[in-house]
Amino acid sequence: MAEVKLRTPQEAVAAIAYQASDVVVSVQPSLASDSKFSTLLKQLAAKKTPGLVAKTGDAVPEIQSVRLNTDPLLSVFTPIRSGRLVSVTTTSSILLPSVAHLYKLANFPVVLHVALAPGNFPDYTAITSIRNSGWTILQSWSLQEAHDIALTAHALAIRSGKGVLHFFDPNSSASQEPIDATSSDVVRSVLNLDNVRRFQSARIGGSNIYADDGRVAVVSEQPEPLSASASGAVNGVQSAVQSAVNGVQSVISSVQSSVADLASPTITSQSSVKSSQQSAASSPPVASAATTIEPTVPVVSSEDIFNYAAAIWSQQSGLTGRQYSAFEYRGNAKAENCLFLFGSDVALFSDAIAQAKTDDSFANAGLIVPRLYRPWLGAKLLAAIPRSVKRVAVLEQVSRKTTKWGPVLIDVLTSVKSAAGGVQTIVGHQLGYISKETVQHALRGVFRNLTSGKPVQNLEVGKREAPEHAPEYGLERPKLETAYNKILDQLFGSRAYVANSLDSDNAGISGTISATPEFGFGSLLARKERRHKFVGEVKEAASSGRFLTEVPKRALAKWVANADDVKKSEEAAEDAVSKLAIDNSRLSKSLLQNKHFFRKQSLWLVGSDAWSYDFGNSGVHHVLASGENVNVLIIDSTPYSERAAADANRRKKDIGLYAMNFGNAYVASTAVYSSYTQVLQAMDEADKFNGPSVVLAYLPYFGEHDSPLTVLQETKKAVDVGYWPLYRWNPDNEKKGEPNFSLDSERIKKELKEFLDRDNRLTQLMRSQPQFGGVLSEDYGTEIRAQQKRQAKDAYNQLLEGLFGAPLTILFGSDNGNAQSLAKRLGTRGRARGLKTTVMAMEDYPVEDLPTEENIVILTSTAGQGEFPQNGKPLWDAIKDNTELDLASVKFSVFGLGDSHYWPRKEDRVYYNKPAKDLDRVLANFGATRLADIGLGDDQDPDGYQTGYQEWEPKLWEALGVANVEGLPEEPPPITNEDIKIASNYLRGTILEGLKDTSTGAISAADQQLTKFHGTYMQDDRDIRDERKAQGLEPAYSFMIRCRLPGGVSTPKQWIQMDDISNELGNETMKLTTRQTFQFHGVVKGKLKPAMQAINRALMTTIAACGDVNRNVMCSPLPSQSKYHREVFACSQMISDHLLPSTTAYHEIWLTDDDDKKTQVAGEAVQDFEPLYGPTYLPRKFKISIAIPPHNDVDVYAHDIGLIAIKGSDGRLEGFNLLAGGGMGATHNNKKTYPQVGRMLGFVRTDEVHVACEKVMLVQRDFGDRKNRKHARLKYTIDDMGVDVFRGKVEEQWGKPFEPARPFHFDSNVDTFGWAKDEHGMNHFTFFIENGRIEDTAEFRMKTGLREIAKVHKGEFRLTPNQHLILSNVADEDLAAVKALMAEYKLDNLHFSALRLSSSACVAFPTCGLAMAESERYLPVLISKLEACLEENGLRQDSIIMRMTGCPNGCARPWLAEVAFVGKAYGAYNMYLGGGYHGQRLNKLYRSSIKEDEILAIMKGLLKRYAAERNEGERFGDWTIRAGVIKATTEGRDFHEGVAEEESDEE
Ligand SMILES: Cc1cc2nc3c(=O)[nH]c(=O)nc-3n(C[C@H](O)[C@H](O)[C@H](O)COP(=O)(O)O)c2cc1C
Ligand code: SF4
Repeated sequence: MAEVKLRTPQEAVAAIAYQASDVVVSVQPSLASDSKFSTLLKQLAAKKTPGLVAKTGDAVPEIQSVRLNTDPLLSVFTPIRSGRLVSVTTTSSILLPSVAHLYKLANFPVVLHVALAPGNFPDYTAITSIRNSGWTILQSWSLQEAHDIALTAHALAIRSGKGVLHFFDPNSSASQEPIDATSSDVVRSVLNLDNVRRFQSARIGGSNIYADDGRVAVVSEQPEPLSASASGAVNGVQSAVQSAVNGVQSVISSVQSSVADLASPTITSQSSVKSSQQSAASSPPVASAATTIEPTVPVVSSEDIFNYAAAIWSQQSGLTGRQYSAFEYRGNAKAENCLFLFGSDVALFSDAIAQAKTDDSFANAGLIVPRLYRPWLGAKLLAAIPRSVKRVAVLEQVSRKTTKWGPVLIDVLTSVKSAAGGVQTIVGHQLGYISKETVQHALRGVFRNLTSGKPVQNLEVGKREAPEHAPEYGLERPKLETAYNKILDQLFGSRAYVANSLDSDNAGISGTISATPEFGFGSLLARKERRHKFVGEVKEAASSGRFLTEVPKRALAKWVANADDVKKSEEAAEDAVSKLAIDNSRLSKSLLQNKHFFRKQSLWLVGSDAWSYDFGNSGVHHVLASGENVNVLIIDSTPYSERAAADANRRKKDIGLYAMNFGNAYVASTAVYSSYTQVLQAMDEADKFNGPSVVLAYLPYFGEHDSPLTVLQETKKAVDVGYWPLYRWNPDNEKKGEPNFSLDSERIKKELKEFLDRDNRLTQLMRSQPQFGGVLSEDYGTEIRAQQKRQAKDAYNQLLEGLFGAPLTILFGSDNGNAQSLAKRLGTRGRARGLKTTVMAMEDYPVEDLPTEENIVILTSTAGQGEFPQNGKPLWDAIKDNTELDLASVKFSVFGLGDSHYWPRKEDRVYYNKPAKDLDRVLANFGATRLADIGLGDDQDPDGYQTGYQEWEPKLWEALGVANVEGLPEEPPPITNEDIKIASNYLRGTILEGLKDTSTGAISAADQQLTKFHGTYMQDDRDIRDERKAQGLEPAYSFMIRCRLPGGVSTPKQWIQMDDISNELGNETMKLTTRQTFQFHGVVKGKLKPAMQAINRALMTTIAACGDVNRNVMCSPLPSQSKYHREVFACSQMISDHLLPSTTAYHEIWLTDDDDKKTQVAGEAVQDFEPLYGPTYLPRKFKISIAIPPHNDVDVYAHDIGLIAIKGSDGRLEGFNLLAGGGMGATHNNKKTYPQVGRMLGFVRTDEVHVACEKVMLVQRDFGDRKNRKHARLKYTIDDMGVDVFRGKVEEQWGKPFEPARPFHFDSNVDTFGWAKDEHGMNHFTFFIENGRIEDTAEFRMKTGLREIAKVHKGEFRLTPNQHLILSNVADEDLAAVKALMAEYKLDNLHFSALRLSSSACVAFPTCGLAMAESERYLPVLISKLEACLEENGLRQDSIIMRMTGCPNGCARPWLAEVAFVGKAYGAYNMYLGGGYHGQRLNKLYRSSIKEDEILAIMKGLLKRYAAERNEGERFGDWTIRAGVIKATTEGRDFHEGVAEEESDEE
């Protein structure tokens, strides 16, 4: 340990605690964020550094990390009772809430090391308020002292058998030089291992921390040798405390009349130290067996403690030369004036005194500080004060006091007064924040007061507040916690009264105390009581004759009658108040003084999950037992992934169950990150419930750097698997004949189920909410998964029984299906060769069967960065570190699928096909024999992975002896989308049957392709995919529904209807998409049909919103020219209608009721006819957009058909330039795929535009590639045949030529935010809707706001192609009302950086199945991280088009952005640069697979250069090209040419 350098007092303490403990309980803000103690503790433990005290010699101490808010001292009981030495490292914030434990632990040799909080200006109240809990309390003021006193504390705990608390201000030694750790020999000898052994061999029974087990620390039979300085009167702890308490009154009365003629002490600190040195040299070793209850042995007294401490210090001094004593005096030995300091900056004061000029009032003063604060030994204090001292100024750093006189002042007074000495005056001061600059000023003030004729007691010295400082974790609460407070505020406004909020102003009462639930509950009751009294007063007043007029009486009587009804009392209150105001009598005036009581308040108490550990003492219990109408909000912050706790004592209890069992309370379990509306509902019901209400609110908290995304993902997991179910329990419902319990999430945990089972409530619930029947009874637990695997495998084996041939087990690991389909095909081929083949996913395979396999083949692809695919991980985890597997009789072969250029850097080459290679190596290591050498498929090979596969497969048959089998059947070709379309009978497939199947949330794979044509995709929630898998549940399937909304125009009524659909049938949010339409997510199968019907009722449709057809037709929303917009918009509708598929399947499936057979077209006989599409529709999706120059907001170059509106000389629409063959989709690393911009075919007139579009589409229908979906878009058709040939074919179909294109000009593709007026004088406002997500959060109720606006709006809404929203056509006379609503909901806020305003992101995680990385949830975060840099370089107002997508499919049109990020793997992106500002030029790959730190570094560098180097008006994309950062992409086919980062060549 000696070689360790200690830099902070926490480290200095940790170094000792580690060596001197069997168990260190490390209290941390969260398990993920270290404290300043825990870093070193964990480093030492990680290096397996042995401690000094362990019974078994070299054992490594156990570090138990415990969260700050989970009643941390509970962790001490179990180990200390089993004879293990325990110390705790913590901040002071836990002390007060732990006071009950402190009393119990005082008689155990526990050491508590406490860093005072908050860091920059600690509040010593934390220490003074527990001064009577029976602990020995020591303090230190410097780095070295922290180290030494930590050792004293441990030695003292061992000797005395009592708890020792060592505290320090971590900031006071911040600037000190690092120190060396004390050598282990010294530590060992001071600790005295004999004593340690004695403690460790004595087990203390009992496990119930709530009962008093009668334990008392006792002194050793061997007398403790007294040091010379230790003689004199010593008060026992209790008596000292008692006398202090009893003495307060008399002391206070005597404060003013100075204390006179006290006996003069003769010993200075100097001599006291010397004498203790002598005593150490001459005394036998100190010992104590203070661990067992032996009534004959006297209880440890204060005197004993003092003697032990003195002896330890004398020993330490002999070994290190540093001297300590109970009270330490510094300064002039003949001082007349002396400071008694109980605060942080001892060095600051002693230096100031030492450096005082001779004429300074504080020159020659003395300074005395208590090192041993408890037990308080008054006589020792007297002994330490020089006889010359006449006046003592007590400075205590207790920022708020609970008594009038400071606790330290009382201590000093009682001690000094009761003894003889020269001190005549003792004056208390409250010490504020003092710095180097202000210390002299402060001292002058203190001494002026001290020496004045009439000194003022309680004078404040220094500033009340310390300068701003990063908050210390002690008092910090999860930042996101405010979410719930905000909701309270939104719901109840000023009616909400939160009794114990941290920021509430409870004058004179310490922040920590006022934040406790007990305090809060008391104050709530007081508040209720006062209102109750007020109601009584009003009642009396109403019948009294003391008003001047008659008017108030009736109003008041009415109010009294309704006083308990929120709404009615509010109405009546208004009347009453106004009548009182008129009356003007004395009585009315006095009532008006309390007019806030006219409103019925919503009373709330906020607590934490710390209450779940100790109900009996908790606020919940008090509230429930009181039966009062009080609401408790309990925030549970334990993350789902930390839920398992090892210690039985630490088991968290379920507050919800406890409260429901109580019977008289409203109970709700909520999670704002799962359902915002459910929180609202619960809080509202709690408020209305007349009795106690308990609302549990989940807000998982790892550490201060938590992002909302982490919190969201944790919440979803917890809710989804039933760990944190969402429910509401209302005992009042029973009276109405409704069930008490309503479940708002899907699954519940076992305990809750049992509870509901007990009273038949589960049956009731099932009856009232039958949708839960199927899932409710599923328990979550990983054993289920194991069982399932077993069953599946056994079933397979049974099937195979009776077959001949060698067995062959084929396993696959596959994310996107390549490896899976290869494996299945291999299985079929094996079977054809007479083998008994079994094919299954690696995760479904029971690993215990591995040694019994004869032949096993594994095909795995590569995911992430050289990782196993999701369904390959469990098997790999089970075998990789296995030491017992013996595969000597197993034969195997591995085939890997990977991409040698996925991670292009040389150093990343290891990731190529890593899982396959690892598997191959590990299986061989277990002794298995290779059937065929590992085969590797590479996406970069001419035929992709097939190239490698075709070499490998024959070798496998060879090895299995089935290479030359005669008469192999011909393999059926794989089923393609084209086959599915043909077989679907015009898009019917088996969708109807699939919808009716309630055994799964999914539909069949073929139907998944077909529903796209109907505007809906099946997806699953990827945030909880793994967790559900682990619980043996199928993925959380749900559907995305996309509306068809040509031009993105919606009426206010439609807006409200869409809003309803999202709330009632979706996931409470809507997405405005880059193709100007509404998209709903999270619609479960059972709600799909109702949602479709609701959309159609809103006169919208979803047909052909996705699929291989023409999709939603876009149109510039153009707020500034309404008339012109109307003309162009009409064309978009016309084109849309013209190209709609005509199958009746849509109507039949979605719009007829199950029993309404009339409208259904009869069964198989139907022959729909698709005049435009034919039975196979188009080869691929088809998109059309219309731009209105100079705005290219629709990104007209990015679509299969781009129409550029051309205005005639009369100002009316004349026709369109038609571009064809734009498209965004591409595949990473596949150079045959690329984004492309549309090519000009020519001009068409308005009345023919839909026909021209049709003809382009038909040429594509007939010539597009139907074999390869990656090559099927129109862009490839045109590139393959050439623009002119293509144009010729269109003209041929059309029967006329295109006219030459007309001139046009674009200048931007972003939206223009804020208000605009059109030519009719109507107003339009463009809102900034970040990434198109319409949702409510506690901070920003955008969704509700827009709904409120929709209720009054008379114009329309226009969705923009950049995912924003325009409130269109507001008349001047309606402006004021609309603006007021916008302001109320903060919807008028446009104060964003231009970069943010110009950004857009696709949906990606969690719903999009193709996403490889986050997009919508991450781009805003990334931009926030760049904004400071923008600011620094003066670029805040400069628009730069930045886009992000989760995969190269390109939904947010990334390839046209000036800078783009396209997801490559989770957390990694390809970066593209050089797009044109108005969407005219594609960008080019700049870096591959970079993560956030690199992205930020690159962006910051580029932004800085751009700011410095750009020409006047030069755009970022243009600059990157001129500056040579990137080469320009002239069209799609050179997209892959000359990329900045050439991929490294194979060596
Ligand atoms: C997100 C992602 C990450 C990948 N990472 C790697 C990698 O690190 N090394 C590698 O060789 N191939 C990597 N690949 C390539 C795949 O392994 C390859 O495309 C394979 O054919 C996919 O097969 P599957 O559909 O069965 O999952 C990655 C592919 C994706 C989509
Ligand atoms: S770009 Fe890719 S990840 Fe993003 S929504 Fe489209 S398909 Fe999903």
